Amino acid sequence: MSQFPEDFLWGGATAANQLEGAYNIDGKGLSVQDIMPKGVLGPISDGPTEDNLKLKGIDFYHKYEEDIKLFAEMGFKVYRMSIAWTRIFPTGEETEPNEAGLAFYDKVFDTCKQYGIMPLVTLSHYEPPLNLAKKYGSWLDRRMIDFFAKYAETVMNRYKDKVSHWITFNEINVTVFSPLLGGGILTPKEELTMSQRYQAAHHQLVASGLVTKMARNINSNFKIGCMVASQPRYAMTCNPDDILYAMEQQQETTFFVHVHATGEYPYYTKRLFNEENVEIEITEEDREYLSHTVDYITFSYYNSRTMAKDPSPYQTAAGNIYRGLKNPYVQYSDWNYPIDPQGLRYMLNFYYERYQLPLFVAENGMGSYDDPIENEDGSLTINDEYRINFFNNHILQIEKAIEDGVDVFGYTAWGCIDLVSAASAQIEKRYGMIYVDRQPDGSGTLKRTRKKSFYWYKELIESNGDSLER
Ligand code: BG6
Repeated sequence: MSQFPEDFLWGGATAANQLEGAYNIDGKGLSVQDIMPKGVLGPISDGPTEDNLKLKGIDFYHKYEEDIKLFAEMGFKVYRMSIAWTRIFPTGEETEPNEAGLAFYDKVFDTCKQYGIMPLVTLSHYEPPLNLAKKYGSWLDRRMIDFFAKYAETVMNRYKDKVSHWITFNEINVTVFSPLLGGGILTPKEELTMSQRYQAAHHQLVASGLVTKMARNINSNFKIGCMVASQPRYAMTCNPDDILYAMEQQQETTFFVHVHATGEYPYYTKRLFNEENVEIEITEEDREYLSHTVDYITFSYYNSRTMAKDPSPYQTAAGNIYRGLKNPYVQYSDWNYPIDPQGLRYMLNFYYERYQLPLFVAENGMGSYDDPIENEDGSLTINDEYRINFFNNHILQIEKAIEDGVDVFGYTAWGCIDLVSAASAQIEKRYGMIYVDRQPDGSGTLKRTRKKSFYWYKELIESNGDSLER
């Protein structure tokens, strides 16, 4: 029998820059994503280029009605999505918002409502305005806090009766590790000091606190969450050196949850900053903003990471931006990422034990090549058993965490409809339960096709988890 609570929020997750397309329509400005044709792993371009698939996405901008209808057919209770900042403030510096951009999200939220789907909205999913990145160095500059707060206040006011659940920043911990992806900082990582990287992350944390404070004045029923990229750090061996190393690495992520959950920097900050030679400016006003803590914690979980103090004897594994060592006890995906469902149960317990706040799994999935079979009538069949196995095994571990006593209130499968990857801007790295005919060279009819996993997820939601293969 299923252990999922009756009101468990099942759904899927996407990000504006990875599916909307229409990058220059209805007054939208350029974001940093619009100059990353190869994703965060490749060189950035001077401006929009033909080979940047993100500019086209899967054209959700014009097809949102069809797509949300398909989500509803699967039985989604929640749709985690993001607003493109540059649709609302094209350069980030306007005094008035762009009405066409605001109107677009009105239509999206109204469509969700029509199907009884609750939107869970991320304010910033890796796409600050390019203008702010060029002019101010993006989150390196303290002035970003006010630009972001203005944007957040505008959309929270506009949608205060349409959206109840918000996330301030997607994977806020990524800024230190990948300043380009997490912080929209165009200066190459190697040229930034650790102080600069943590200062940028601090600005985001302050902005998150400030927006949380503002949100409660706009609508006292709003629920505000944080979001962190999470992987349990496993020690490669029981050598205490490895154990401590893995613990310290874990703290670099927990750090961000800790600030959001408690309103303060954690006790190990001094050691961490000393080791990394970090000195940052924290004002009294910053501390006040940080003290506005979140209502719930959300995180992404794709894989675990295995670590050793001295990694030299071991083989490495892949990961979208974070890499670890090859763990001999888990399987690997097409992209050589570890597949470790139990790591999700571990992570849920890990956060709950520390913070006792409700948890929401905001992203989980596996990028794979799909191999559509063309039927006689021209339609496609996609037998994605591998994806079904992945989801089944991960969702089972959420159920076990619930049995452990963890308060988990929702799950959104990443890229529930095929979209363009963040790390490498590939469309062939497919996550979806809905296949989209968009090909790596940008061609394709954009036709949507239900994969086998679509029907599997529909049944799972219908049965509130009963249909899981245990
Ligand atoms: C998460 C991001 O880190 O991973 C998403 O929040 C991203 O934006 C997802 O798409 C999967 O990574 P990728 O690089 O395979 O798209």
